[in-house]
Amino acid sequence: MTANISSAVSPGKLILLGEHAVVYGKPAVAIAIDRSFKCTVEKSNRMTLNGNPISLDYHPHVKTILKTHGIESLALTTESTIPATSGLGSSAALSSSLSAAVRKLAGEKIDKEEIANEAFNAEYVAQGRASPLDTSCCTNGKGISLNCPDNMGEHLWTISKESNTWNISEIHVPEMTFVIGYTGIKAPTGPLVEKVRRYRARNTFAADIINEIGDVTLEGMKAIDKNDVEQLGRIMTKDHKLLSILGVSCNELNKLVNASLDYSYGAKLTGSGGGGSMVALTDKPKEVCDTIRLHGGEPFVVKTNVEGVHVI
Ligand code: MEV
Repeated sequence: MTANISSAVSPGKLILLGEHAVVYGKPAVAIAIDRSFKCTVEKSNRMTLNGNPISLDYHPHVKTILKTHGIESLALTTESTIPATSGLGSSAALSSSLSAAVRKLAGEKIDKEEIANEAFNAEYVAQGRASPLDTSCCTNGKGISLNCPDNMGEHLWTISKESNTWNISEIHVPEMTFVIGYTGIKAPTGPLVEKVRRYRARNTFAADIINEIGDVTLEGMKAIDKNDVEQLGRIMTKDHKLLSILGVSCNELNKLVNASLDYSYGAKLTGSGGGGSMVALTDKPKEVCDTIRLHGGEPFVVKTNVEGVHVI
């Protein structure tokens, strides 16, 4: 039976290892966090967002998803506790929750693999280039890895685009404490992904760094498997250095990462960088929050391993 109104919620995510390199098919790990994005959709012959008329041309994620379902307009209401363009998955969670809400409205089945594919397509169109890391994480929830060795994790689905294939698995991430430090700098993903693409196209050194990020991510997966927080922390910090060499960090992120290291196993930028957020793995969350605040960031402790997209 079809409804006239439906809602769905998706969690945000933090990327533990492998951002940017994952766009080129390298491995990566992300975890769903207890920040979320909710979409409510209602049948309407005017396209509105939070009560205001909009043109879909300025909202590529929404446009792509509605087009997939042959819908020209609806009334969309959004509520989010994920800061926008902060590296914590707000656009992936929008795409995933919108896909689920629209499916419910259209009387279609709520299939996570189909939602993950649809949300990835929306990100790809909006960003110009993307991996399915964020969208699969926000859809599945818990912890996921892309292109991890066969013996780690439980295979969820496979997504291919152009010459890349990503095997997406759910992995068990032991209880760990993560503190996010938000720089307050809004940093859209598309231009940073494009910056890395140009660097890689011009310079074999950039390709080497991308390969090295892939290698440290595999080491990190082994540390997660063994619940070795000290080793995982060291690998996160190494990944941050590689991402800095790739040109996607910034002074504000480096400041928060360096300050956190005094009280953490490791710390790194999370997401596309250029601003946005960093993450520290720690057992001293209070001290990390204090130092992040002292260095101009907005700290918050996140709960991980939360549920993926669900209709409410
Ligand atoms: C952005 O959260 C993660 C990136 O690797 C881009 C992507 O995977 O699409 C930078």
